[in-house]
Amino acid sequence: MSKLRSLPTTGALTGILESLEFFRDPSFAKKRFNRLGNVFETSMLGQPMVFIQGDKAIADLLSQPEAIEVWWPKSVRQLLGSHSLANRNGAAHKARRRVIAQLFSSSALQLYSPGIINLIDELGEELITAKTPLPLAGKMRRFAFSVIATTVLGLEGNDRDKLFSDFEIWTKALFSIPIALPGSPFAKALKARKRLLKKLKEILSQPINGKGGLDLLAGGLDEAGIPFADEDLGEQLLLLLFAGYETTASALSCLMRELLLTPQIEIWLREEIDTLAWPPTPEQTTMAYDPANAPRLDALVKEVMRFTPPVGGFFRRTKQSLLLDNIIVPNKRVVQVALIASNRHGTGDLDIFRPQRHLENECSLKLMPFGGGGRVCLGKSLAELEIRLMVVGLLHKLQLEVIPDQDFNLRQIPSPSPRDGLLVKVKV
Ligand code: HEM
Repeated sequence: MSKLRSLPTTGALTGILESLEFFRDPSFAKKRFNRLGNVFETSMLGQPMVFIQGDKAIADLLSQPEAIEVWWPKSVRQLLGSHSLANRNGAAHKARRRVIAQLFSSSALQLYSPGIINLIDELGEELITAKTPLPLAGKMRRFAFSVIATTVLGLEGNDRDKLFSDFEIWTKALFSIPIALPGSPFAKALKARKRLLKKLKEILSQPINGKGGLDLLAGGLDEAGIPFADEDLGEQLLLLLFAGYETTASALSCLMRELLLTPQIEIWLREEIDTLAWPPTPEQTTMAYDPANAPRLDALVKEVMRFTPPVGGFFRRTKQSLLLDNIIVPNKRVVQVALIASNRHGTGDLDIFRPQRHLENECSLKLMPFGGGGRVCLGKSLAELEIRLMVVGLLHKLQLEVIPDQDFNLRQIPSPSPRDGLLVKVKV
């Protein structure tokens, strides 16, 4: 049996320098894991925080749900709100999850598919007819927002556009210093949150018949004994709209960036895409490009999620002392599951983007871009469907090229995205 060890620490007390480094250096966690092992403690702005990586530590954490509870930084907690299922535990969390999960059943996905295909065709046309280069990352944000707002929830175009601009302000401050100094991103985000909730309340106060997922949600929450007329439903919608677009748009932008910057990967992928029909038949939409029919596309999506995970880490707080990878983590400790570092932890060329690794039998990486356990992502199947449809649809229609002299580096927070927006034009 391995020996139990006490928790290694960086020795940081105030955590000011650690926080600055965390935001500045994408290898922050990796460097400390190399020095201190798979489980270590540091301080982030006065908040003690245990970082973990590797299958064993993560499995040890998620397999003991009774010993952990949810935790988010104060900025996320406040901006999502105390009713949000992301901030709840136990029965209150489970009841809301059950209702919201209905939006993402396989029959629901089948219903959304024609709407998603239309949005992709529209984007293809917009790119083909554009007179000037377009920022692909921004287009992906719009697309993913439209899918969740219109196709899933049933909001009308006008409502959707008003919500989108406030969401862009709100999202920017999600992981920021939660001090509402006038003019600061956090203060602006709090104001945007107020406007968003007001607008959502207005939308909900109109008859909700025929409003897609809104109808289902309101009815479901009511049936589960959850009051939907107050802020509760508003905050679940806020979470869904946010979770539904920021992450998916990041995955799409990072995927397109890799294809555009590494032509040999695009050539390799096109060999497969050329064998697939676009659009898929209505009965086939949810399966046409699944791993069995499009293994290269599946490998590419997996590699994007590994290399640039849209959610770089998620958190829990211990409710009792826990053993993680044979390290004793005391009660009331915030634990960050460091996905970015974990995905590159192991032997071989893990610092290189190489989708083919997922088609090789020896690839034993256990990826969890959508989290795990009782809080695993509710929108996983929708996100995967959107991504697969978008890649096949766009590549069928056109070939893109990037505009040189732009910054292709990724900003990391809240989710990776090309700094200059990935300006592209259609190759003629
Ligand atoms: C590539 C896209 C996506 C990625 C990588 C992703 C990742 C994640 C991760 C890692 C978690 C778990 C957080 C935790 O354990 O604390 C999560 C939770 C969640 N995701 Fe996603 N997500 C994506 C897309 C979506 C979409 C499209 C939706 C649908 C609107 C969605 C809705 C949610 C919700 C509601 C939760 C909270 C679950 C809970 O706390 O019980 N996500 N997501």
